[in-house]
Amino acid sequence: MTDAVQTPHVGQTKFAPRVFSGIQPSGGLTLGNYLGALKRFVEMQDQGMEAIYCIVDLHAITTWQDPERLRQQTREAAAAFIAAGVDPKRSILFNQSQVSAHAELAWVFNCVTRLGWMNRMTQFKDKTAGKNAENASLGLYAYPSLMAADILLYHATHVPVGEDQKQHVELTRDIAAKFNHDYKVDFFPMTLPVIEGAATRVMSLRDGSKKMSKSDPSDQSRINLTDDADTIAAKIRKARTDAEVLPDLPEGLKDRPEAKNLVNIYAALSGKSVEEVLAEFAGQGFGAFKPALADLAVAVMSPITSEMQRLMADPAEIDRILGDGADRADAIAQPILARTLDIVGMIRSRR
Ligand code: TYM
Repeated sequence: MTDAVQTPHVGQTKFAPRVFSGIQPSGGLTLGNYLGALKRFVEMQDQGMEAIYCIVDLHAITTWQDPERLRQQTREAAAAFIAAGVDPKRSILFNQSQVSAHAELAWVFNCVTRLGWMNRMTQFKDKTAGKNAENASLGLYAYPSLMAADILLYHATHVPVGEDQKQHVELTRDIAAKFNHDYKVDFFPMTLPVIEGAATRVMSLRDGSKKMSKSDPSDQSRINLTDDADTIAAKIRKARTDAEVLPDLPEGLKDRPEAKNLVNIYAALSGKSVEEVLAEFAGQGFGAFKPALADLAVAVMSPITSEMQRLMADPAEIDRILGDGADRADAIAQPILARTLDIVGMIRSRR
């Protein structure tokens, strides 16, 4: 169990602790999303922090999405949040496009953000690598500015994410600092990324140098939150490994990315440290370790998968939950957007 998160550093105390995070509904969610994000969302909620969780459908359309599938995947993501333990009464759960203030604040941030900052974003480079970058959408390029708007629209102080989102949260701080500086205000907080646990970067089951991702063409590379027990066990059995036995110390996993990944997954699923897992399995090969990991993964994931299926049977109820969450999110967002536009110098005279 992780310790309670720290409140932001001195000077930021005027901002009450508030958690914000988001997941794209651009495909089915994976074990990486669960261990790197969803599980952490539930822990922070259960530590009693005020938490706002968002299914970022506006981010999803930065790459092509079939409209009907997008709606389906958005509901599926909502079901995954709830099945994993996000309580839509205690926390706010909604889809981004229902709160238009996200897009409005993003426009203001597009005018604060410098092109040079955007050009350094590694995710854009990764997503366009090997493709014609000229043909990428403008939205994909501006994506981190919308993400900063998601976070700062709620004056969020803590953002639990996997390692791949660290650069985006750092950019969010740069945008907040430049806005505060340019307009001579202390309006936006310096948000902290919260990147903790054994599984902040779950790797592909087929290639230990690649992140497990919903967009990987190989389904064997990932465990989907919709996979049944047999599929999960088969994917773990077939996961790429090496021929050596497990070491007794974490240093022994250096230069063994596939082995390290499976040990990290075991640690994150069991709530044990990597040291504890190695103490249990040192000297054993994957013939013994993989079945133990498969049993553990099935035991943890199956209840979530079946709860997701139960929730998905009532899409109207999911839509109702998202609408209720959007109303509550909007009530927090509107005064912050209004104040932002006021600071920037916009006339606000409509009744
Ligand atoms: P997305 O949808 O790619 O991933 C959602 C969350 O899951 C984490 N994650 C992983 N963690 C560990 N191992 C993996 N293999 C793995 N794959 C994904 C991600 O780090 C993320 O925390 N830009 C974000 C969505 C977003 C957002 C936000 C997040 C939009 N606005 C505001 C936080 C705050 C994204 O594409 O995540």
